[in-house]
Amino acid sequence: MAPSTLTELAGKETLQASFVRDEDERPKVAYNQFSDETPVISLAGINDVGENRAEICQKIVEACENWGIFQVVDHGVDTKLISEMTGLAREFFALPAEDKLRFNMSGGKKGGFIVSSHLQGETVQDWREIVTYFSYPIKSRDYSRWPDMPEGWIEVTKEYSDKLMGLACKLLEVLSEAMGLEKEALSKACVEMDQKVVVNFYPKCPQPDLTLGLKRHTDPGTITLLLQDQVGGLQATRDNGNTWITVQPVEGAFVVNLGDHGHYLSNGRFKNADHQAVVNSDCSRLSIATFQNPAPDATVYPLKIREGEKPILEEPITFSEMYRRKMSKDLELAMLKKLVK
Ligand code: SIN
Ligand code: FE2
Repeated sequence: MAPSTLTELAGKETLQASFVRDEDERPKVAYNQFSDETPVISLAGINDVGENRAEICQKIVEACENWGIFQVVDHGVDTKLISEMTGLAREFFALPAEDKLRFNMSGGKKGGFIVSSHLQGETVQDWREIVTYFSYPIKSRDYSRWPDMPEGWIEVTKEYSDKLMGLACKLLEVLSEAMGLEKEALSKACVEMDQKVVVNFYPKCPQPDLTLGLKRHTDPGTITLLLQDQVGGLQATRDNGNTWITVQPVEGAFVVNLGDHGHYLSNGRFKNADHQAVVNSDCSRLSIATFQNPAPDATVYPLKIREGEKPILEEPITFSEMYRRKMSKDLELAMLKKLVK
């Protein structure tokens, strides 16, 4: 018999113990208690020269300085492509377990389907199924790990990846210029920019107050573009991480998250957004995260240190080393928590 997927557990009355979080990690704000505090920025006119572009760039820079998370509309990615992508993704998660498990990402396979994907080093499971694939650099594409069901998805995902690479580069140009650097500075700091797509499916959850769809984290990479449906569940923090807000979904918008790499390159000027996903017992939710990351051996170090500032990193390190340190700190914290219990 095929192992069960999360979608099957969703029909139970109580939550399986492996998903139950410590009280301090549980959701503080409901999935649909929306806040419109995070900026929504129209990119119409961003390719012009002159005042229009300058005004948009100013808004993006302020959003990165104050939040590290904002939404963009009029971004130029075709609505038809977005609805094809989300429609096919929903169809994938609705497939019978054995079809999804054909792409099971066990045994070190790069890309595929994961039941209850959770962050590295975590013991409590996240209430989400994912399908993930590596789309850039082109040589990293292993189409045998990209779901070929439902029909046509590979073609749509290829186009989606290309369009999102274009949008991410446009945003990185704005941030490079804001740092007083040449347009390509942030992209070049990535050496050969990686792109990884994670499609998240959060089924209805029997006891959503006890668990999370995705635990609190900052993204490790340069910038992330997240497409979410209208259900709601993405939460960000303000007041130095003390207050949670649920980001109001905006039809057709991409949520832009600045990651740790972007934060370090700007010497901490741009925030790496602290965020999580909560779930609910009313309906399922779909989101598609496109992570733009530097190459593993790209150097992480501030590209510009402004007058009066000190570098926030002691020494240049590689992106893999940055990731290793981030993960081991998380592990240390988890161990400490267990010790004081
Ligand atoms: C993510 O942080 O990668 C996904 C968050 C979400 O699904 O809202
Ligand atoms: Fe994230």
